[in-house]
Amino acid sequence: MKAPLRVAVTGAAGQIGYSLLFRIASGAMFGPEQPVILQLIEAPIENAMKALEGVAMELDDCAFPLLKGIIMTDDAKVGFNNANWSLLVGAKPRGPGMERADLLKDNGKIFIAQGRIIDEVAAADARVAVVGNPANTNCMIAASQARRLTADRFTAMVRLDQNRAQTQLAKKAGVDLTSVRDIFIYGNHSPTMFPAFAHATINGKPATSVINDSAWLQGPFCETVGKRGAAIIAARGASSAASAANALVDHVRSLVTPGAIHSVAVKSNGAYGFDPNVWAGMPVRTTTPGSYEVIPGYSMDDFAKSKIAATNKELMDERAMVVDMLG
Ligand code: NAD
Ligand code: LMR
Repeated sequence: MKAPLRVAVTGAAGQIGYSLLFRIASGAMFGPEQPVILQLIEAPIENAMKALEGVAMELDDCAFPLLKGIIMTDDAKVGFNNANWSLLVGAKPRGPGMERADLLKDNGKIFIAQGRIIDEVAAADARVAVVGNPANTNCMIAASQARRLTADRFTAMVRLDQNRAQTQLAKKAGVDLTSVRDIFIYGNHSPTMFPAFAHATINGKPATSVINDSAWLQGPFCETVGKRGAAIIAARGASSAASAANALVDHVRSLVTPGAIHSVAVKSNGAYGFDPNVWAGMPVRTTTPGSYEVIPGYSMDDFAKSKIAATNKELMDERAMVVDMLG
C-alpha cells in the first residue's frame, strides 16, 4: 500500500465541496491504488464548521477503503500542513447579473493568506489548484506570496470550460463526445476565454471540416462555452457545482498522469502572446506527476489572435485591479 497523499480542500462544506470530497475519497482523483488523507478547511464561522462535521460523518459512512483520515479545521496552518495537494475552492460564488471579476475584491484577499501559508507549511512536493473565482487571478495572487514554491506549482482550473467545449462540439456534429479530441481553452475563465476549435478533431478529422460552419464556431459555439456558467446560474439559481467538482477531478487526474494533454491555466511564459505576468489557460502536457510543459506552436489565425488578445487584455486588467494584493 502506498503512503497516503494529504489533500487539503478549502470551502469543504460548500456546494462544490459536497460533490468533490466523495470523488477524491473514492479514488477518482488519484487512482484506485492511492490512499488519501483529507484536510478539510472552512471559514472560521460556526455554521460552516458545523456543516463540515456533517459532511465528515457522511464520508465516514461511505466506508471508503482509500480514505485514511479526515482533519477538519478553520485554521489554515493546520489544514495545509504537509499537504501534497491544496485545492482552493473556498470563495464566494457569483450571483445572477455578476461577472466573475466582480468577486475580485472580496475573494482576492483569501488567496493572499492562503498562498503565504501554503508556502510555509505544505509538503516539499506541494501542488496547488485554484477553483475559487476569478480563478486565474486568484491563482496569481496566491502564487505571488510564495518564496519557497515556484510559480509552476500553482495552477487554475479551465477544465470545466474544456469539458463544456468538447460536449458542444460533439452535439453539433452528432457524434459521441469521445470522438472529439484536442479542444483547448486559452486565457481567462470568463466569457473572454477562447476555445480554439481550429485544432480540435472529430474522429481524427479537423472539427472545422466535420462541422463546416465557421459562423457557428466563431459565434454561438464560443459564446455558449464562454457564458455557460451564467446560463447555469440563471437556470439553477446557483453556480455550477457538480460539474465544477468533476472538472477539478479531471484537472488533477490529468496533472498526475504523465503524457496527458489538457487545458490548464498556468503562469504564462509568453507563449501565444500572453503577458508573462498573468495566469492563462493553455494546452499543457503532463511530464511527471504534478509537472507539465506548455505545448507551444499551435498556429493561430487572425480570428484566434484577436480572441487571445482580448482575453489577455482582460487578464492584465484584472492584474492591475489587484496589484496591491501581490506579494
Ligand atoms: P459555496 O458558497 O457553496 O461554498 C464556498 C465555501 O467556501 C463556503 O462553505 C464558505 O464557508 C467557504 N469559505 C469561504 N471563505 C473561506 C476561507 N477563507 N477558507 C476556507 N473556506 C472558505 O460556493 P461553491 O459553489 O462551492 O463555489 C466556490 C467557488 O468556486 C466560487 O468562487 C465559485 O465561483 C467558484 N467556481 C469556480 C469554477 C471554475 O470553473 N473555476 C466553477 C464553479 C465554481
Ligand atoms: C462556472 O463556470 O460555472 C463557474 O465559474 C461559476 C460561475 O460563476 O460561472
